[in-house]
Amino acid sequence: MRQIYLNYAATSPRTSPAVTRELCRFLGQNLRLNAGRNFEGIEDGRVALRARMAICKLFGTDFPERVIFTSGATASLNMILKGLLEKGGHIIASGVEHNAVMRPLEQLRKKGAADYTLMSCSPDGAHDPESLEDLIRPNTRAIVMTHASNVLGTVLPVGECFAKARRRGIFTILDASQTAGVYPLFFGGDTDALVFPGHKGLRGLAGVGGFVLSEAASEQIEPWLSGGTGSVSQYIEMPSFLPDKFEPGTMNTLGILSIALAVEEILEIGVEAIRSKEMELTSHFLEECQKIPRLRLHGSRDASRSVAVVSVDVPGRDAGAIAASLFEEHEIITRSGLHCSPRAHQAAGTFPCGTVRFSFGYETTREEIDTALSALCAVLKT
Ligand SMILES: Cc1ncc(COP(=O)(O)O)c(C=O)c1O
Repeated sequence: MRQIYLNYAATSPRTSPAVTRELCRFLGQNLRLNAGRNFEGIEDGRVALRARMAICKLFGTDFPERVIFTSGATASLNMILKGLLEKGGHIIASGVEHNAVMRPLEQLRKKGAADYTLMSCSPDGAHDPESLEDLIRPNTRAIVMTHASNVLGTVLPVGECFAKARRRGIFTILDASQTAGVYPLFFGGDTDALVFPGHKGLRGLAGVGGFVLSEAASEQIEPWLSGGTGSVSQYIEMPSFLPDKFEPGTMNTLGILSIALAVEEILEIGVEAIRSKEMELTSHFLEECQKIPRLRLHGSRDASRSVAVVSVDVPGRDAGAIAASLFEEHEIITRSGLHCSPRAHQAAGTFPCGTVRFSFGYETTREEIDTALSALCAVLKT
């Protein structure tokens, strides 16, 4: 039996064969040099520039120096939230945030630095932009929203919310962990910071990701992480120019190269084509799930309003046990539990037991989905 991987919301299972070949070639050919640290390290600088350019193309922006590479979405969110709020203020967050947002916010609150308020949402994760006005306080500095819930799949109305926030002079931070590379998304307009992981929709390696900043955000956010940059080393303070202001320490060049190569591939396929395939797969899965007795679907049942993420449960059945049977008896890889997003489960009414989450990628086939559906029916019959 061949394994079927349906856990794309967590991570893409592999880099494409062409990207893997290029990464191996790079490893075989290059000395391990360090951008900005020695003359030969210029090669690493070139890799980073290539990746910055690819990210700019993907998100439709023109400022490669405002693309910052980090170890991932979690590091990026910590750098932005703490860099902006360490000195105080209030922040509004959606009602379905990942712990990569919630835990830094809670740390800031516990330290007495900054306070936060969560938007309310319906059980399927839908948010009403009109509700934002009542949450804004005189000291509200920022709003942070995930673009799509990693539990419910629901796409949030970030455009409307960010437009309202911006009119009130509030910074807007978008966690695009579930949409970068798989959902049309353009930086600019009302977004001040866009966070992306490298290993999910971008299909690069794990341990790398980053963020893109507006000019105002790049000036206002303090460098939360500091250290050597290989530039202006005579000064004890971090450089004020980009990207060095936010890129201390030795870079993950192989990871950054994986982003460059994988994003170039995505640009060739086209994000619209990826979105359209994932939407079709999700729509088929949602439709078939509704025919399975006792199975409860959480999140939007409309694939045009969600990404390729579907959470299900069965009253009285343990989600972990269902996922374990899917894997042990049918070699189908899903993810069960709270998915690092307890808030989304509280909204959906599935806290603390959690759900079984199915998530699809561009490589997923309809046949794999049908096999998973049959397996789910078989598991639920036992
Ligand atoms: C919405 C969301 N934000 C943040 C993260 C954290 O990403 P990473 O673990 O790559 O840092 C995830 C990962 O699942 C996510 O789904």
